[in-house]
Amino acid sequence: MCQAQTKQFNKIAGKTLAFLGAGNMGGALIQGIIGKRLIPAADIWAVDVRLARREYLKANYGINVTSDNKAAVDQADIIILAVKPQQLGSLLDEIRSVVDDTKLIISIAAGITLSYLQSRLGDNIRQIRGMPNMPALVGAGMTALCAGIKALPDDLQLAEDIFNCVGEVAIVKENLMDAVTGLSGSGPAYVMLVIEALTDAGVKLGLPPDIALKLTTQTVLGAVQLLKEKGLQPAQLRDMVASPGGTTIAGLFALDQGGLRAALIEAVEAATRRSKELGQ
Ligand SMILES: NC(=O)c1ccc[n+]([C@@H]2O[C@H](COP(=O)([O-])OP(=O)(O)OC[C@H]3O[C@@H](n4cnc5c(N)ncnc54)[C@H](OP(=O)(O)O)[C@@H]3O)[C@@H](O)[C@H]2O)c1
Repeated sequence: MCQAQTKQFNKIAGKTLAFLGAGNMGGALIQGIIGKRLIPAADIWAVDVRLARREYLKANYGINVTSDNKAAVDQADIIILAVKPQQLGSLLDEIRSVVDDTKLIISIAAGITLSYLQSRLGDNIRQIRGMPNMPALVGAGMTALCAGIKALPDDLQLAEDIFNCVGEVAIVKENLMDAVTGLSGSGPAYVMLVIEALTDAGVKLGLPPDIALKLTTQTVLGAVQLLKEKGLQPAQLRDMVASPGGTTIAGLFALDQGGLRAALIEAVEAATRRSKELGQ
């Protein structure tokens, strides 16, 4: 359930939202916002260099589309920067003259810092930095947000309302955004690898591949649902499955010997280091 729909619809109604770049993530956000009716389609603009993409967004969501970033920014209250990080520099040059402190800028570009945006768009810009993840495409995303120093008290709430439409939101300090990238940003790929490995194990043991995948995905989904609904710690639920001398404890011992826990911690640390490098 989108919290924004019930709690904050009135606050966002009346504001115009512009997406600069409306590919995978911009499109996911548009889909979520329209689906949850947070902002009417008539008040949403999407800018994309691709004509086919603009046509698709207009036909599917009834939003306004253009190829003119400056025109979209000029009449928008909230602007979401959703191009690839390497495309951002020229985009900022393009819109700089029409950005001022009447507008809220939300950037989701990986590794791009608040201070960089401030240096390119001006000291007084109201800005929020966000890091969503891929499951936003199906409304099950995890987004971390942090606010720039000139953001108004309501700006973070506005951003929270927007990203709540594609999943859950956490507020963090900016110095933790690389860790967010390493954990929830990259995390879906780690989980896919685990699912793939468990499925392979099933096939190795004679299960048909489709059944092995079904067993694995429903097991992962069920474990996560159990965790969220029971409000217990993972270790408590793990102990509920692992009876003394039983099958699960034998499996867990093999995972410890294989170094799964250390490998996952190292994966998040390596991705966090890489995020820092890319940000520089
Ligand atoms: N996808 C994810 O899972 C994810 C997760 C977290 C954060 N992010 C961040 O979200 C941002 C967007 O990622 P994405 O995966 O949505 O990328 P994407 O699918 O490539 O979407 C970007 C879109 O913007 C278009 N574009 C490029 N330059 C433009 C310009 N100057 N003006 C208007 N449109 C322009 C691109 O067209 P062309 O393809 O022709 O260049 C593309 O259609 C990135 O900064 C990324 O770091 C993504």
